[in-house]
Amino acid sequence: MTRLVMILNGPNLGRLGARQPEIYGELNLSALEAACRRWAEELGLEVDPRQTDDEAELIGWLHQAADQGTAVVLNPAAFTHYSYAVHDAAAEVDPLIEVHISNPAGRDSFRRHSVISAVARGTIAGFGFDSYRLALDAISRLMP
Ligand code: DQA
Repeated sequence: MTRLVMILNGPNLGRLGARQPEIYGELNLSALEAACRRWAEELGLEVDPRQTDDEAELIGWLHQAADQGTAVVLNPAAFTHYSYAVHDAAAEVDPLIEVHISNPAGRDSFRRHSVISAVARGTIAGFGFDSYRLALDAISRLMP
């Protein structure tokens, strides 16, 4: 049986490597996805990493995960802070873990609130790309 996890990355995360490297690091999205594949293999998981700048597309992927019973590691990026639509779609998915590369709690005041956390099993933030490793480890324990 495959233990599938969708890794969903929201807006501007396709810019990793170029975007504010002092905050998000020097490595790009492909490097993050490759690292996630390696970590997943160690945990006996299969991953399906995706990135979009489009709220509707992200919501569609969450609906797909809900319908298929697929676990999700979600970095909602800026949607974290204001998208009730992503909140509502994420509420249908279980297990779902929220991740952030940076620690939003230590940054701009608008980043201190997540509208996603209430519907996630938990949130991992502030550990760079390792946030995804920790999230995959945590989600593998929540899956059959
Ligand atoms: C982020 C934090 C968000 O506040 C920001 O809008 C992002 C990335 C992170 O991974 O640290 O785009 O989700």
